[in-house]
Amino acid sequence: MIRKALDRLAILAGAALLLYLAVVIVNGTLAAVSQGGKTPGAAADVRNLKTNRALFLRGRRIFRSDTFGDQAWWGETLQLHKAIEGSKFGGVGPGVSPKTALALGLKVDAAALPKKVVAAIKAGKVNLDDPATTLTLLKLNAVVGVKGFFKSSGSLRSVGLSCAVCHSTVDDSFAKGIGKRLDGWPNRDLNVGAIVAAAPNHKPLTDLLGVDENTLVKVLTSWGPGFYNAELNQDGKAFQPNGKPAGTLIPPAFGLAGVNLATFTGFGSVTYWNAYVAVTQMHGLGNFYDPRLNDPSKFPLAVKTGSWNVRHQPDLVTSKLAALHYYQLSLAAPKPPKRSFDPAAAARGKAIFDGKGRCSSCHMPPLFTEPGFNMHKPSEICVDAFQADRSPDGMYRTTPLKGLFAHAKGGYFHDGRFPNLEAVVDHYNSCFGLGLLPSEKADLVQYLKSL
Ligand code: HEC
Ligand code: HEC
Repeated sequence: MIRKALDRLAILAGAALLLYLAVVIVNGTLAAVSQGGKTPGAAADVRNLKTNRALFLRGRRIFRSDTFGDQAWWGETLQLHKAIEGSKFGGVGPGVSPKTALALGLKVDAAALPKKVVAAIKAGKVNLDDPATTLTLLKLNAVVGVKGFFKSSGSLRSVGLSCAVCHSTVDDSFAKGIGKRLDGWPNRDLNVGAIVAAAPNHKPLTDLLGVDENTLVKVLTSWGPGFYNAELNQDGKAFQPNGKPAGTLIPPAFGLAGVNLATFTGFGSVTYWNAYVAVTQMHGLGNFYDPRLNDPSKFPLAVKTGSWNVRHQPDLVTSKLAALHYYQLSLAAPKPPKRSFDPAAAARGKAIFDGKGRCSSCHMPPLFTEPGFNMHKPSEICVDAFQADRSPDGMYRTTPLKGLFAHAKGGYFHDGRFPNLEAVVDHYNSCFGLGLLPSEKADLVQYLKSL
């Protein structure tokens, strides 16, 4: 009896002790948390986390739909909006139907379409040959990277472009060219040259380049889908010495966190280039400064127009650079779909990449570019210097390789000179005298496809 009672007492005492300890621990934690929230360090942590989300959301908005006031160029100056709406709505020509817009490589954001419109498209009740439908899509903000500005009468007053027109595409989940946005994926279907060629007023461009209308149209139509010449209005170079069009493929804007220099020729960092493009290419109303372009032998047009040192009042670009930069760095490279490569061959290919192929000496994993100064002389990779010489440093930047599968269209290297990865590997094999066997080359290609 006594023994049982003692046992029971011991159990009760043990339970009480546990309860006491639990209360002490919980109280202690609570005290630590509440006290922690009051210390400057913890408050800074909370603030930084909030900033993180705010920058991301603001940057995404800017990337997707901010025109930086560039409608003053695309609309008011080149009159692109008049070609879009066509004569029926007070513009010029036949207008741009949704079918034509999709053929030019423009994309439609399915998420911006109200359910009623989606149902009507599915039922075949939307006329995709009518420019009026394009105007409706613009009103819905559904054309990726193209922003319409409307008069109260419903006709277009102007049109502007955002970064997304070139650096986003859609997943085609609704129909070809219509789907969910894929920010950072280069739009290799987009025919920028054909779009500019369609603008009614070319005078500012022919004046700038000092060429006639025919020559300008020849230059613009030489680019083709996925290409753009982002240095043409600085150096006036429209063609390579071999007669091929100058300019480059539109690169991805994903997978750039940790990468030092941006663009094929390493003009500067991501934020450098964002200011360059927003002001000197999109013709946004903002400030830009790069005295390296104030060089009459290399960049005669930059000197002539003063585009190396631009000031605008108000400046619609500079205040957006931080968020825009932040958003792009958050864009992770996409993972290749399963079954798009052979995993066993890719594993063997990795050994070639890191060993016999010497690829990782420049494309260092996991960044796949050099940590540090990621630039090379053209001769180091057996490539001509034409495009490198159009940049301040005369070199090529080691391209980060993640997500290669997402931009196979248009080819590889800055001007798409290699139609596929097999051709890239063949090039390196002879350039570096690697002596890779056919099976090793095939494995290396599978590894590149797996990145
Ligand atoms: C008309 C199409 C077009 C538009 C609009 C455009 N870009 Fe680009 N972008 C390009 C091309 C072409 C290049 C490559 C230029 C080069 O290497 O000379 C490029 C390069 C880049 C790069 C470098 C990628 C890398 O691999 O280093 C980034 C980042 C970028 N653009 C971001 C932007 C942002 C942000 C905007 C909006 C402010 C923008 N772009 C607007 C066509 C465009
Ligand atoms: C000396 C440094 C260096 C070495 C070594 C090197 N690369 Fe490159 N790689 C570059 C540079 C620079 C570019 C950009 C060339 C251009 O765009 O014209 C590039 C571009 C590429 C591209 C094209 C990416 C794109 O998006 O267009 C691929 C793919 C590639 N390299 C794979 C390889 C493989 C595979 C190897 C090994 C066999 C290798 N590289 C070795 C520097 C190097």
